[in-house]
Amino acid sequence: MVLSKPDNKHVLKAFDLSGKVAAVTGGARGIGLEVARGLAEAGAHVAIIYSTSKDAPTTAAEIAKTNNVRCQAYQSEVKDSKMIEDTLQEIAKDFGKLDIVVANAGIASHYPAEEYTNEQWKEIIQVNLDGAFYTAQAAARIFKPQGHGNLIFTASVSAILVNVPQKQAAYNASKAGLVQLARCLAVEWVDFCRVNCVSPGFIATDMLSVHPEEWRKQWFSMIPAQRLCDPYELKGAYVFLASDASSYMTGANMVIDGAYTLP
Ligand SMILES: NC(=O)c1ccc[n+]([C@@H]2O[C@H](COP(=O)([O-])OP(=O)(O)OC[C@H]3O[C@@H](n4cnc5c(N)ncnc54)[C@H](OP(=O)(O)O)[C@@H]3O)[C@@H](O)[C@H]2O)c1
Repeated sequence: MVLSKPDNKHVLKAFDLSGKVAAVTGGARGIGLEVARGLAEAGAHVAIIYSTSKDAPTTAAEIAKTNNVRCQAYQSEVKDSKMIEDTLQEIAKDFGKLDIVVANAGIASHYPAEEYTNEQWKEIIQVNLDGAFYTAQAAARIFKPQGHGNLIFTASVSAILVNVPQKQAAYNASKAGLVQLARCLAVEWVDFCRVNCVSPGFIATDMLSVHPEEWRKQWFSMIPAQRLCDPYELKGAYVFLASDASSYMTGANMVIDGAYTLP
C-alpha cells in the first residue's frame, strides 16, 4: 500500500469535508472549539469531546444548527486509554464511521524545573503526551480496518523553542515528544492514515488568560506579529490538514505563530 491519492479536483472542492465525520478532543472551548466549528463549516459532522465543560452539549447543538450538520458532545478523559477508546468507538458507531480525529486536549503549568513534584510532572505528561497517544491509538484502531483516516495533533511552538519568562519544562517536553510521536506514527501508519501537527504560538484562550500582565508584555516584545492570535485564525489550517487539499502532507509540523519562532 502507498499513501492514499485522491483524484484531482477543483481546489475549493479539495477543501470540502461534506459527509466526513470528525472528532475533536478539547472541542468544547478554546482552540478545539474553533477547530470543531471550522470542520463543521467545511461540511463535516463533528463529535466534540470534553472533560469538564458542562455547556458542551449546548455548544454542539449550536454548531449543528448553524452549519446544518450533525454535532454531538461526548464526555471523556484522555488520560484514561480505555475511556477515550470507548468514546471514539461510540462516536464511530453513532455516526457510522470516523474519518478525522483531532487530538487537541492539553493543559499547562508553570514551575521551576527543580521544584516539580512527581505529580505535577506526571499530570502534564499524562494529559499532553499519554493522552494524545491514547487518542491516536484509539483512532488508528478504527482507521486501520476502515482503510483510511486523518489524525491531527495540536502541539505547540513550545516543542521547538523555550518560552520565557514562564518556566514550563514539562509542557515543553510533552509538546516536543508529541511532534516526534506524530512523525513516528506518520511513517508507521502511512498505509491507512495521514498524521500531522499544528503548532500554535500564543493563542487567546483560557490557557493564557491566567498569566500576569508582565508576561504578556514580554511576549509581545518577542512576537513580530505584535498581537495574540484569535483561536478562529487557526481553523483554516486544521481544515486544510483534514482535507484532500493536503493529500501529500504527512508527518509535518505546521507552525502558526505570527513569526514568533523566527527572530
Ligand atoms: N493557547 C495557546 O496559546 C496554545 C499555544 C500552543 C498550543 N496550545 C495547545 O492547544 C490545545 C488547546 O489549548 P487551548 O489553548 O484551547 O486551552 P483551553 O482553552 O484551556 O482548553 C483545553 C482543552 O483541553 C481539554 N482537556 C484538558 N484536560 C483534559 C483531559 N484530561 N481529558 C480531556 N480533555 C481535556 C479541556 O476540556 P474541557 O473544556 O472539558 O475542560 C479543554 O477543552 C492544548 O493542547 C494546548 O497545549 C495552546
